[in-house]
Amino acid sequence: MSDIVVSENIAGDAMSRLRESHDVAFEPDLWQSRDRLAAALGEARALIVRNQTQLTASLIEAAPRLRIIARAGAGLDNVDTDAATRAGVVVSYTPHDNSNSVAELVLGLMLSLVRRIPAAWQDTRSGGWDRVGFTGGELSGRTLGIVGLGRIGRLVAQRAGAFGMSIIAHDDFIDPTADFVRESGARMVSLDALLAEADFVTTHVPLTDQTRDLFTYERFASMKPTAFFLNTSRGEVVDEPGLIRALTDNRIAGAALDVRQTEPPATGPLSQMDNVILTPHIGAFTHEAQERVVATVCRDVTAVLSGGEAGSPFGQARP
Ligand code: MLT
Repeated sequence: MSDIVVSENIAGDAMSRLRESHDVAFEPDLWQSRDRLAAALGEARALIVRNQTQLTASLIEAAPRLRIIARAGAGLDNVDTDAATRAGVVVSYTPHDNSNSVAELVLGLMLSLVRRIPAAWQDTRSGGWDRVGFTGGELSGRTLGIVGLGRIGRLVAQRAGAFGMSIIAHDDFIDPTADFVRESGARMVSLDALLAEADFVTTHVPLTDQTRDLFTYERFASMKPTAFFLNTSRGEVVDEPGLIRALTDNRIAGAALDVRQTEPPATGPLSQMDNVILTPHIGAFTHEAQERVVATVCRDVTAVLSGGEAGSPFGQARP
C-alpha cells in the first residue's frame, strides 16, 4: 500500500521526481476498476487523477487517510467535491495550466473546418490534386460565438480577434461589464442571438446540471446552415443524436468534436461524415501544458502531505 496513488497516465519530470522522493503507486489503469481503486485508497494519503477516475462519495468515504485529491486538469466533474469537503479532503486542480493549449486547438479546428484540411490531406495522400474542389473560406470577417467566456473562452476570443473575426459571447455567470469582457473584445449576447448570428460556435462551459445536453437538435437547427460547431469542453454538453440529426438534415455545415458523450466513443455516424472532425480529447495534451499541469499537482500533493496548502484548492482558484 502506497502513500500516493496515481490512477491514470500522468507523467513528466515533476512526476519522476515525486516518484523518486515519495512512496508512489503509479497505476495508469487503476481508474478502470473501482474495487482496485478502493483497495489502493485504504492507505493512501494522496490521489492524483485526470478526468477518467470517477471519485464518488462512497469511494472518498472509504479512504480514511486521504488528505488530497489532485486533479491534473481543469474540470472537476469527475470528483464529488461535496463529499470531499465533508470528509476533509482537499481537492486541488489546475484551472490555468492547459487553457492556452485548448484555445490553440480551437483555432486549429476552426481552420481545419473552414479549409477542410483533414479531407484535403486524405485526398492528396491517395493521389488527388483537387485544388478547386478544396476551395475553402477565411476566418477573417466571420463571426465567432463563444459559449462560456471563462479562461479558455477569453483566450479563444483574443486569438480569433487576431484572425480578424468578430467575437460574440454568451455566459450566464459573468458580469458583462467586467474589464476582462471588454479586454476580450467580445460583445455579450443571449444564447439565442449567438446561435443565430455566429459562423462558428465554440463551447467552453463546465459540465453541470445546467449545461448537460445544452446543445440540442433545436439549438443546432437555430444556427445558420453555413455555421460550424466546435466542442472542446465536455462531451455531455452536446446531445449527440441531436447533433447527428442536425448534420444529416444539413442544418449546420459541420462540426469538430474533441470530447464525446462517452469516451472512448463507440464507432457511429459521426466518424463517417466528411464535414466532421473528431479528435481524442487532446485539448490539454501538449508537452507544455502537461509539464505545467503535472508540476502543479505534484507541488500541491507535496505541500499538503507536508502540512502546507495546495496552490489551487477547489473554490479558491486564482483569478
Ligand atoms: C481538463 O479538464 O483539464 C481537460 O479536459 C483535460 C483532462 O481532463 O485531462
